[in-house]
Amino acid sequence: MRVMRVGLSISVVLSFLMVFQETGLAAEDEINCIKCHRRITPGHVTDWEASTHAAMGIDCSICHGTEHQSVKNSHLAVMPDESVCGDCHHDQFEQFKKGKHNHGWKSLNAINVTHLEPDVLMEGGRGCGGCHNMGIKTDEEKQAIRATGNRYQNNSCDECHTRHTFSKSEAQDPRACQQCHMGYDHPQWEMWSSAKHGTRWFAKEAGRLPETATAPTCQHCHLPDGTHTNRTAWGFFGVRLPLPEDKQWAEDRVKILKALGILNPETGEPTQRLDAVKSLDMARLTQEDWQKERDKMVKTCAGCHSKSYGLAQLEAGDEMMQKADRLMAQAIDIVAALYKDGIIEKPAEYAFAYPDFFYFMRTGGASMDHLSHVDQVLFEMYMKHRMRTYQGCFHVNPDYAYWYGWAMMTKDLGKIQEMEHLLRKAHGEEKK
Ligand code: HEC
Ligand code: HEC
Ligand code: HEC
Ligand code: HEC
Ligand code: HEC
Ligand code: HEC
Ligand code: HEC
Ligand code: HEC
Repeated sequence: MRVMRVGLSISVVLSFLMVFQETGLAAEDEINCIKCHRRITPGHVTDWEASTHAAMGIDCSICHGTEHQSVKNSHLAVMPDESVCGDCHHDQFEQFKKGKHNHGWKSLNAINVTHLEPDVLMEGGRGCGGCHNMGIKTDEEKQAIRATGNRYQNNSCDECHTRHTFSKSEAQDPRACQQCHMGYDHPQWEMWSSAKHGTRWFAKEAGRLPETATAPTCQHCHLPDGTHTNRTAWGFFGVRLPLPEDKQWAEDRVKILKALGILNPETGEPTQRLDAVKSLDMARLTQEDWQKERDKMVKTCAGCHSKSYGLAQLEAGDEMMQKADRLMAQAIDIVAALYKDGIIEKPAEYAFAYPDFFYFMRTGGASMDHLSHVDQVLFEMYMKHRMRTYQGCFHVNPDYAYWYGWAMMTKDLGKIQEMEHLLRKAHGEEKK
């Protein structure tokens, strides 16, 4: 496979180079781009010079085109998307297309809050868009980005192999995942790096463990054997169809699906959001599909641990998810009742008088004047603390699973119960 792929790339490179020979761009002297850019953007030139691309004669113009040649027309430089890389790296491009990373931009845009928040944080890439740039964009999507005055972020490949070194070994380093897989709702970096797997990796890096010591990285478990297709059993939201057999758990999950707006809170019927969930692969829709990913992971663990050891650890995560869902459902019930009794007003944009997690912290919808705090506590319980409870188990980090996860959920539920009491009291007094 590998030989064929490189063979293909080299033939593509040769044909590119032949074109440039003919147009005279690959002359003995440095091409114009580099000559001028040594002055304009010297760092990019030295990075490129250190890359395999430079050694293969793949210069600036192969990715950026030849239209822009002067100080005045830099707007004519093409910003290359993934398909430009895909011309030569066919396998990686095809694998990437099948993975979850390819859904990043679309799943961001499927969330209601995205369209209320400042463009600079989305299309400009300084907030959600800085991580959700991942994913191939359609021409219409690119036009919409341009319409907000933003020109960059057309490429996902440079998220792990940063430009202009485009290095393989950089992408093999778990720190390549850190910028995005950290923080509020997905602290995989913090969990992995402070648990034993990460500790071993750092100790090995520092030369304190033998070269042959095992230490699984993010890539080892999630992009095994160099694949660019990433996908896990539970995914981010931690929901799956069909509903669990356990009756209580199934009921709890229905409440979570209602708060996600995937089921209509009044009728229990699926809403349009289920279509987005399906098309963006936000949840595994069959038990078999889930099991396939789980089996792969158990096999990965079994590269080092015994099969039963690995399996027991993963089942601990599943069990904590069920327990976390019980707390979540209790909290959702309380807040939903506040809506029902008119104690919290339904924001204009909400489809139902019910909590809607797709608005994140904007629990007043577009309006910043009527944010509901009890709703915000509920959202945080779901998005930050429920996530940590099971993500911490899966990444074998005891402190995340307990103190930052489960214990915080307990605290949230206590807060919500107390706020309910106060809100109902205040509302009763208001009526008098
Ligand atoms: C005579 C000097 C000159 C030459 C020749 C030149 N550039 Fe540029 N290039 C510039 C300047 C100036 C800018 C704008 C820098 C800025 O916005 O601060 C620029 C910007 C760019 C940008 C960024 C555009 C953006 O919107 O941020 C790219 C990409 C680029 N050049 C690639 C090339 C390529 C490829 C070639 C050769 C085909 C080339 N340049 C030739 C001077 C030059
Ligand atoms: C293998 C493809 C590739 C090659 C070769 C390449 N670039 Fe780029 N370049 C990119 C990508 C990808 C981006 C980011 C595009 C985006 O954000 O939409 C970029 C962005 C840029 C930018 C604008 C962003 C910034 O950080 O300033 C400049 C300037 C630039 N390249 C200059 C160069 C120059 C000069 C060369 C040659 C020395 C070069 N590039 C070679 C792929 C390439
Ligand atoms: C004209 C063909 C061509 C284009 C376009 C191209 N590459 Fe490459 N690239 C190569 C060749 C040839 C190699 C060296 C052989 C190999 O690793 O397949 C290479 C090597 C690489 C490597 C491995 C470097 C290492 O450290 O070993 C990475 C990563 C890479 N390219 C990423 C990209 C990305 C990302 C883009 C788009 C922004 C891109 N390439 C565009 C031809 C190309
Ligand atoms: C999520 C991070 C990530 C993204 C995004 C990513 N890569 Fe990679 N890439 C990797 C890792 C990790 C490796 C090293 C695989 C290995 O260990 O063999 C790699 C290796 C490569 C190689 C070298 C293959 C070899 O064995 O020589 C190429 C070429 C490459 N990627 C191209 C791309 C292209 C093209 C894209 C965009 C479609 C892309 N990558 C997006 C993580 C990424
Ligand atoms: C020892 C293997 C292993 C390592 C190392 C590892 N993970 Fe995971 N990861 C898992 C398992 C197991 C799951 C849960 C899979 C499931 O749903 O059954 C998971 C789940 C995930 C998920 C989905 C949501 C979640 O957290 O449950 C993401 C995203 C993720 N990991 C990213 C990372 C990143 C980034 C790193 C490195 C900082 C990393 N992982 C390191 C095994 C690993
Ligand atoms: C530029 C930001 C960025 C970087 C860098 C990045 N990711 Fe991701 N990753 C994302 C986003 C965004 C998603 C969610 C995609 C979606 O919307 O479906 C994601 C999803 C995932 C998932 C899928 C979880 C699921 O739902 O099943 C895994 C696994 C994962 N990433 C692993 C990695 C690994 C390993 C690396 C480093 C080699 C990495 N990522 C680097 C942004 C990033
Ligand atoms: C620091 C980077 C980062 C920021 C900022 C960020 N995300 Fe994410 N997002 C991710 C990563 C990484 C994942 C995958 C996490 C996992 O699977 O555990 C993800 C997952 C998601 C998913 C679930 C995708 C799926 O199919 O499972 C949605 C939807 C989402 N993010 C929306 C948003 C919205 C909306 C914002 C801003 C209001 C935002 N994100 C901000 C990195 C980010
Ligand atoms: C590349 C080898 C490797 C892989 C793959 C791997 N581990 Fe580990 N794991 C280790 C090493 C080494 C340690 C530290 C030594 C020890 O405690 O046995 C460890 C430790 C652990 C621990 C104990 C942490 C503690 O605090 O004592 C758990 C639990 C664990 N791994 C679970 C998993 C799970 C689950 C998977 C698969 C998702 C997995 N491991 C995959 C090598 C690996």
